[in-house]
Amino acid sequence: MEREKIIVVDFGSQYTHLIARRIRELKVYSEIKHPEDFENMDLKEDVKGIILSGGPRSVYEKEAPKISGRAIAKVIEKGIPILGICYGHQLIAHLLNGIVKKEDKGEYGISELTLIRNDVIFDGTPKRQRVWMSHKDQVVKLPKKFITLASTSYSKIAAYRSNDGLIYGLQFHPEVKHTRYGKKILRNFIYKICKCKRKWKLSEIIKLKIKEIRDRVGNEKVIMAVSGGVDSVTAAYIIKLAINDRLHIIHVNTGLMREGESEKVVEFLRKMKFKNVHYVDAGNLFLKRLRHVKDPEEKRRIIARTFIEVFEEKARELEEQIGEIKFLGQGTIYPDRIESGRASRLADRIKSHHNVVLPEGMKLQLIEPIADFYKDEVRRLALKLGLPKELIVRHPFPGPGLAIRIVGEVTEEKLRIIRKASMIVEEEMERSGLYKKVWQAFPVLLPIKTVGVMGDQRTYQYLIALRIVKSEDGMTADFVKMPWKTLERISARIVNEVDGVNRVVYDITNKPPATIEYE
Ligand code: XMP
Repeated sequence: MEREKIIVVDFGSQYTHLIARRIRELKVYSEIKHPEDFENMDLKEDVKGIILSGGPRSVYEKEAPKISGRAIAKVIEKGIPILGICYGHQLIAHLLNGIVKKEDKGEYGISELTLIRNDVIFDGTPKRQRVWMSHKDQVVKLPKKFITLASTSYSKIAAYRSNDGLIYGLQFHPEVKHTRYGKKILRNFIYKICKCKRKWKLSEIIKLKIKEIRDRVGNEKVIMAVSGGVDSVTAAYIIKLAINDRLHIIHVNTGLMREGESEKVVEFLRKMKFKNVHYVDAGNLFLKRLRHVKDPEEKRRIIARTFIEVFEEKARELEEQIGEIKFLGQGTIYPDRIESGRASRLADRIKSHHNVVLPEGMKLQLIEPIADFYKDEVRRLALKLGLPKELIVRHPFPGPGLAIRIVGEVTEEKLRIIRKASMIVEEEMERSGLYKKVWQAFPVLLPIKTVGVMGDQRTYQYLIALRIVKSEDGMTADFVKMPWKTLERISARIVNEVDGVNRVVYDITNKPPATIEYE
């Protein structure tokens, strides 16, 4: 799809995603690229600017990710502006024969930036301003034909540009909220320096996507597994708008869903006028396969494998009725797709997320209507498409379902406990008005029994941990400092209403070091 874009080259900073998001918030499309991919990238007219991200390394480290001076020259030849941020700022200076000095101390947190000369990148910002720093090394000598724009007491060259106005460097992080005028600075770069014009509008994107899918699929059919979450339903809805009843939806009830969830999903899809909704109840099969399995990764693997198997079998059965199916729709979103900075790369290794399920035996081509979007953008898209609010505001729910909220072996009894407790947590979060304010709120069943006393009788029952977090995209998260009253209510209701539980504890760990889910 041709559209104006800003490329963000990722050198491993935990803020790379934030840069891309901020640019999108400014209504210009942005895409993250690995340095190696950027090196060989064909720079077309739609590329309006390049941002080199920060990163944890020093330009002097052998292993440090780099691009070549040649790649920079290629960009400049085309007249495309470049902005280096933190490591990117140092890398540009290093590649163009400036000097970066290795330092031991560093400058972290808030610093005061003083502008030395007026420049378009700082338009509309004051002479002294608060910026956020996180670096050790610094640029001490500029390449030829470069000038310094701003300093802090630690970094004499905290911002620079080339005389021709095509290359900019900022030692601080404009993408981080603590930088008071960060958004303004990025706005100046995008609109005044890169001269981006066209606004990236959701309604236009939807129209383009629909046309793209229509052209690609022609008269063929698309098959898709829909869990009922906002991603899969939004993706399916866009495909439906493109090809209508040639979309076949399969909803697999894994038996690991919340109370009445599968039935609700199917009812709701039919209400939304999806024509071909096929329901498969595979709860018993999943439970059988999970019997005696305690290891979290093993559980995830079994669930993913069983899911594909069930899906494939249903798809084959369908093909016998309606003929060959050539396309597979998926609700993949942007963070699923790219292997980016430290946070997500680490996350991929920590847990094998089960999102991208490409059945191996079937030769299907992928249709991924929302693969360019972040979760909050998908929610906005869903709103724009008129999808029901309850779907849009619902918290993310992991593919492997309640199985990863039962630590250790999954049994029918434990599923009953966690289902009931989940319902109570959701009800109480809604009642207190906090549901919409948090990223996720759920109970986890631990494989531990503790002693309690109920009605003068000794009990020896399960322990439930309550996990309630705030987050922007699930990559990092903070536990919510909940009102005691709400916590007390949730705890009292769980212990009173859920047979087999006599104690509730509140999880006060952030991510990192913990993850959001327990397995
Ligand atoms: P963690 O536990 O890694 O979770 O901190 C981060 C976010 O991802 C969700 N999650 C999943 N989502 N398939 C999904 O679609 C999965 O396998 C999966 N595992 C975790 C989790 O709920 C949180 O929002």
